[in-house]
Amino acid sequence: MTLSSSLILGVHIVMAMLLAGGALAVLFSGGTTSPALPRQTAVIGIILLLTTGINNFISRLGTGVPKGYHMWFGIKFLLALHVVTMIYLVSGGKLSDEKRIRLLKGAGASVIAVVLISVYLNFLATRG
Ligand code: HEM
Repeated sequence: MTLSSSLILGVHIVMAMLLAGGALAVLFSGGTTSPALPRQTAVIGIILLLTTGINNFISRLGTGVPKGYHMWFGIKFLLALHVVTMIYLVSGGKLSDEKRIRLLKGAGASVIAVVLISVYLNFLATRG
């Protein structure tokens, strides 16, 4: 990996933390908190997460990835779309607390799967 792709991966991870943090907080607090990002912050975060993710993907393809990488990437992408859609829907704080907690709990579960798949993608791409 070049320094610039490592930096882009860093931006990707910070955006994932920003967007996923609230969902994980709801999941692990059992719904006693119900955070919502401002709509504009959520949209900017989602755009940066998607563009840095696509950049990560393209730079990985350049290094020649093993069989299975594309399949796991596809699964990660679909789960990540679930996460960002939920974060978008709850942003702006217009939904009721009850609905926001329900949507964020589902997103929190997907976040855990997305991070585990990301780590597996890293393993597939970097194992000798
Ligand atoms: C909720 C959404 C997301 C989360 C929580 C997330 C999280 C992460 C994390 C933690 C890593 C670092 C893995 C590691 O190096 O061990 C990573 C890498 C990566 N992400 Fe994401 N990501 C998300 C969305 C996306 C999206 C939407 C895309 C594509 C458009 C994407 C594409 C990638 C790629 C290609 C890598 C590099 C994997 C590798 O090392 O080969 N991610 N992501």
